[in-house]
Amino acid sequence: MAERPVLRTELCARLGIEYPICLAGMGGKADPTPPKLVAAVSNAGGLGVMGGTGFSPEEIRVRINQIRALTDKPFGVDLLLPVSMAEVGDSRPEIREQLAREYPRHVEFVQSLAREFNLPQVTASDDTVLSPAVIREQVKVVLEEKVPVFAAALGDPSWMVPDAKAAGITVMGMVGAVRHARRQIEAGVDIVVAQGYEAGGHTGRAANFPLIPQVVDAIAPAPVVAAGGIADGRGVAAALALGAAGVWVGTAFLASEETGIVDLHQQQILDGSTQDFIVTRAYTGKTARDYKNVVIQAWENSDLEPLPMPLQQVLMEDFVEAASQVGRHELVNNPAGQIGGMLTERKPAAVIMDELIQGAVEVIKGFRSVI
Ligand SMILES: Cc1cc2nc3c(=O)[nH]c(=O)nc-3n(C[C@H](O)[C@H](O)[C@H](O)COP(=O)(O)O)c2cc1C
Repeated sequence: MAERPVLRTELCARLGIEYPICLAGMGGKADPTPPKLVAAVSNAGGLGVMGGTGFSPEEIRVRINQIRALTDKPFGVDLLLPVSMAEVGDSRPEIREQLAREYPRHVEFVQSLAREFNLPQVTASDDTVLSPAVIREQVKVVLEEKVPVFAAALGDPSWMVPDAKAAGITVMGMVGAVRHARRQIEAGVDIVVAQGYEAGGHTGRAANFPLIPQVVDAIAPAPVVAAGGIADGRGVAAALALGAAGVWVGTAFLASEETGIVDLHQQQILDGSTQDFIVTRAYTGKTARDYKNVVIQAWENSDLEPLPMPLQQVLMEDFVEAASQVGRHELVNNPAGQIGGMLTERKPAAVIMDELIQGAVEVIKGFRSVI
């Protein structure tokens, strides 16, 4: 049997994994990171991370158990803990009433979009709203299940870090700016994931080349994991060269056979060029990088500002649900990063992992000929 390549950093020891490569926790009902993808990455020596946002606390528990049935290796769960959220009720009907009362023009605009695209009248069925109360319940499941790694997306995890530590959970915090990295360390997180502008999904304004080394310097000796625009061994090696201890890979795994995203979304990634993946607040209220579409364009052409999270999400949910039900997946938000321009082939996750690892080893060995 061929020997397994060696690519080890401090992150491997910290997380108990063989290779410093994490599957980015990608949330949403489209199910970008189902248990079989999480387990495939962990079984290949990386850290599989499940995106839990979009699922009820009970669903999250079921999925954690499904992952445990598929792998005995470490894995993680990622949840959105927004720093700033509009004050809203905890149920959809309450938020809908608030929207009708306070933002009638926004409601009318979305209804006119639904008419324009001939969408049926649909009311999103699921009761899970991204409210502070629901987020607390989701986190409770992660703590009770003693998931090996918890990743906090966007926000401030300080309120849950002591409980996570007590449960033996390693906490990772996502940031897009140096000052947020310092804040995450003050909040007690163990590892910071620095995510650049080029990334898919919610994203900040700083690109990875300036961001990563500054975050590395700002929080040394705490390890930094680089996220955004990494889809082959060159990206992995570049991240390590910038001082990162590992990588957090999203879009490249949306080209895997195991992801749950719809075929059209995957095809957009395989066919799209870098310029097709643009930043918008149209679907969630926070800046996110999605595949371009006519709905994003319509919001841009309107005189309306998207609302803060979670109001914008609830405002758009019935539209998104209606479009999904009739298979108009080109009208919904399909998040993916600029590196989608480089991806052309659907592959098993284990092959993607092998290529990331082997490619990085070759680049790093090649550097020896430079000096
Ligand atoms: C479909 C999709 C959903 C995402 N959902 C989340 C999420 O729920 N939580 C999170 O921390 N990051 C989320 N992200 C961001 C990823 O975790 C990761 O930082 C990003 O994909 C890295 O950039 P890349 O796509 O260029 O690899 C999402 C990204 C995508 C593409």
